[in-house]
Amino acid sequence: MRVVITGATSGLGAELARQYAANGATHLGLVGRREALLAEVAEACRSSGAQVQTYTQDVTDGKAMVELAEDFVGWAGGADLVIANAGVGAPDNLGSGDPSALTWMMDVNVNGVINTLVPFVKSMQAAEPVRGRRGHLVAIASLAGFRALPHHGGYAASKIAVRTLMDGFSYALEHKGISATTINPGFVVSEMTAKNEFPMPFMLQTDVAVRRMRRAIARRNRTYSFPRRLYFLIWLLQRLPRFIVSRVRG
Ligand SMILES: NC(=O)c1ccc[n+]([C@@H]2O[C@H](COP(=O)([O-])OP(=O)(O)OC[C@H]3O[C@@H](n4cnc5c(N)ncnc54)[C@H](OP(=O)(O)O)[C@@H]3O)[C@@H](O)[C@H]2O)c1
Repeated sequence: MRVVITGATSGLGAELARQYAANGATHLGLVGRREALLAEVAEACRSSGAQVQTYTQDVTDGKAMVELAEDFVGWAGGADLVIANAGVGAPDNLGSGDPSALTWMMDVNVNGVINTLVPFVKSMQAAEPVRGRRGHLVAIASLAGFRALPHHGGYAASKIAVRTLMDGFSYALEHKGISATTINPGFVVSEMTAKNEFPMPFMLQTDVAVRRMRRAIARRNRTYSFPRRLYFLIWLLQRLPRFIVSRVRG
């Protein structure tokens, strides 16, 4: 299997890379901005038997992401699975009067997904189908994308956008044999959650979360939201009146 993963320098992306390398990926394209970390993850994947290309690349650079896709497809002969995992989280910090942190987060989390996935569609459409399947696009959204919490509206909005985008992509591509999967994790141990100072119920270890994500990807689920207990809490939260939600601190 030929797999591309963005945000492969840490957290979920690095673990996805390691687990795919150990479980049948022949060719891996790993994307991230921190070169030394990318090289470390790549080395671990090579020692599991995968061939690896690294791309020290910012996912917000659309032109470079198109070139990356062309390079990977030329090298590996195609892409079977592309995972748009790179993402950032930051509080809204409305009092700062500076919108740049929020617009940057939207750029990475939304345009980064578009820049990652769309350049692979053409080659997937042209590929010979295997048992009716041509390729698989995956985006990592979040359970946070089911209800905006105080101080984290920007992050929630970016993940809602990702879910909606992927829903649209699946309508357009499914009948061509290309699947689109959105994964909505709850809290998982990573650099991103290490910064959080609020309670993170039902937190999962990275390897456990990634095993669940890989199972959902293998089943080609259209969406996968986990852990179920947190998903249920979020479902309740969606139905709570505003005055209760506004007391949540983050
Ligand atoms: N951990 C959680 O609890 C959780 C829950 C729900 C959803 N998620 C989502 O899961 C994904 C992975 O997050 P994580 O928890 O594993 O966090 P993480 O450890 O902070 O990893 C984020 C990854 O994204 C990469 N990245 C960030 N901005 C980038 C950019 N502009 N261009 C290229 N790569 C970029 C980072 O690499 P470089 O810095 O090297 O570029 C890093 O590899 C994110 O989309 C996040 O929103 C996480």
